[in-house]
Amino acid sequence: MPPSAPLVDSFGRVHDNLRISVTDRCNIRCFYCMPETDVHFVERREILDFEEIERFVEIAVSLGINKLRVTGGEPLVRRDLPVLIRRLAAVRGIRDLALTTNGVLLPDLAEPLYEAGLRRLNVHLDTLDRERFRQITRRDDLDKVLAGLARAKEIGYRKIKINAVAVKNLVEPDIVPLARFARENGFEVRYIEFMPLDAQNLWDRSKVLLADAMIEMLSREIGPLHPVPDPDPRAPATEYEFADGGTVGFIASVSRPFCLNCNRVRLTADGKLRYCLFAIQEDDVKGLMRSGASDDEIRALIRRNIAGKWIGHEINSAKFVAPPRPMYSIGG
Ligand code: 5AD
Ligand code: SF4
Repeated sequence: MPPSAPLVDSFGRVHDNLRISVTDRCNIRCFYCMPETDVHFVERREILDFEEIERFVEIAVSLGINKLRVTGGEPLVRRDLPVLIRRLAAVRGIRDLALTTNGVLLPDLAEPLYEAGLRRLNVHLDTLDRERFRQITRRDDLDKVLAGLARAKEIGYRKIKINAVAVKNLVEPDIVPLARFARENGFEVRYIEFMPLDAQNLWDRSKVLLADAMIEMLSREIGPLHPVPDPDPRAPATEYEFADGGTVGFIASVSRPFCLNCNRVRLTADGKLRYCLFAIQEDDVKGLMRSGASDDEIRALIRRNIAGKWIGHEINSAKFVAPPRPMYSIGG
């Protein structure tokens, strides 16, 4: 189906990027995302099945979506994920398909996912220190993540990115070693300022390790960093490069909000459409689909959701209200 008029919101932002969470479950327990115990997962029948996801993607493509990212929870715990990836990779009109994972199951799944057509991976890794990994994730799986990264590189994934959440008074010792590790392996680190999406309301501004502080550390220890010329204005990460090559990115949602360039919309594992990570209001795609709605009705719901999109999150204002769903139940 050829794209109809693009998905534009009331601020003129064109939406061509869809993030789909395929599960809210996870095999580790990062504290900035999940509670340690009593995690509330949605029941299986509330999770969209592959047919529903594929149908939604086809409808979204007809509205101009051409980039897809599969997230979770941890997407690799979703049974038969390579089957879904193969189907999504085959949807005509998708120009870019990527996946965000914590990497724990990558040693086994990197290859079947590649065979299914996946070429781009973001692997979540905050530290190369085993003890801190355990402290952050409440699991002892660092070796699996490192093996997963090595396997992915060996198989031929290009431009593997490492997502590191920047929490103050915690990961300062990891900033430089992660960048060195990435430079040695041809990966790119993206440091993500800690956002108020944790399940226990631990966040406050004083716990965010800000991009400027990290740029300063990296410049001092590794070498001068310069902003990449002609950056993609739609990309959330601000990219910097070292004089001798290699780049690092900063997703500085707190110190440099990038909402004005946002092109993203999200579908949760339980089929809710969200125009922002921090959205309070969401639309029930699953309910509509399961009540027998036509493609046109679903298209109208997507348009309505985007038309109602706010100008941006207000993390930096006293008015800010954290969304009722923590990160694992939204999808990054
Ligand atoms: N703040 C910032 N980033 C987070 N992530 C998870 N929780 C948070 C948070 N509270 C990141 C992880 C994951 C990505 C989807 O979101 O790095 O890889
Ligand atoms: Fe799992 Fe990702 Fe949340 Fe960590 S950030 S607990 S890896 S869903």
